[in-house]
Amino acid sequence: MVINSIDFDQLVFKYSLSKPYLVSSDTYKDDRRLKEQKLISMLCSNTNANCIEIGTYKGQTAYNMSCNTDKTVYTVNPLPCQMGGGILITDTLDRDDIGAFYKHRSDRGRIVQIYENSLNWCPENIENVKVILIDGCHDSDYVFNDAFKMYNLLDTGGFLLFHDFVLNPLRSWNKSVYKGIEKFCKVIGIENIYHITDTFMGLIIK
Ligand SMILES: C[S@@+](CC[C@H](N)C(=O)[O-])C[C@H]1O[C@@H](n2cnc3c(N)ncnc32)[C@H](O)[C@@H]1O
Repeated sequence: MVINSIDFDQLVFKYSLSKPYLVSSDTYKDDRRLKEQKLISMLCSNTNANCIEIGTYKGQTAYNMSCNTDKTVYTVNPLPCQMGGGILITDTLDRDDIGAFYKHRSDRGRIVQIYENSLNWCPENIENVKVILIDGCHDSDYVFNDAFKMYNLLDTGGFLLFHDFVLNPLRSWNKSVYKGIEKFCKVIGIENIYHITDTFMGLIIK
């Protein structure tokens, strides 16, 4: 796996990502998170196709995605009873809390909430997918499963994003994500992955 660092502007130039995008301004207090949201929003706006997010949490990213596509955002998060054996998880949320950020907003686009563990999720009748964010359980076997499953759904030329992908990972959390991606790249035969400068984002273009 060869990691190439690329900054936001270089990516915009290289892939002609010129369409404007929206980012909800009331959510991101630090530069890194704001940059990550800009990246995701920009990719959704420029592709204007269906999108998938693994790991909804409160739904801020799902909301931003939905504001930047006319199509559907599918976002997946397990209920407490579906969590399974994953260890490196941010939080276990109840049904009402999953996606709470977007649920009451009338200005959101089309979001389909899927209550499922990504390990067991079998996507059906989902096509024309051009942006996928993997940000669920951070155990390497989950990351591998998510990447493998999602890559098959992604259109050629589509963008597969991984959160918590950092260079020289020191924390066990980041090491585990790195390991899952590394195995995925090896199995599929992918050589190149981008790391987006000043973010925790990895990007593979299919
Ligand atoms: C880091 S948070 C996601 C943040 C969200 N993507 C955002 O940008 O606002 C990780 C979420 O993944 C969920 N999660 C944990 N295990 C999962 C699994 N196996 N499948 C899908 N989601 C999972 C957690 O419950 C948590 O809500």
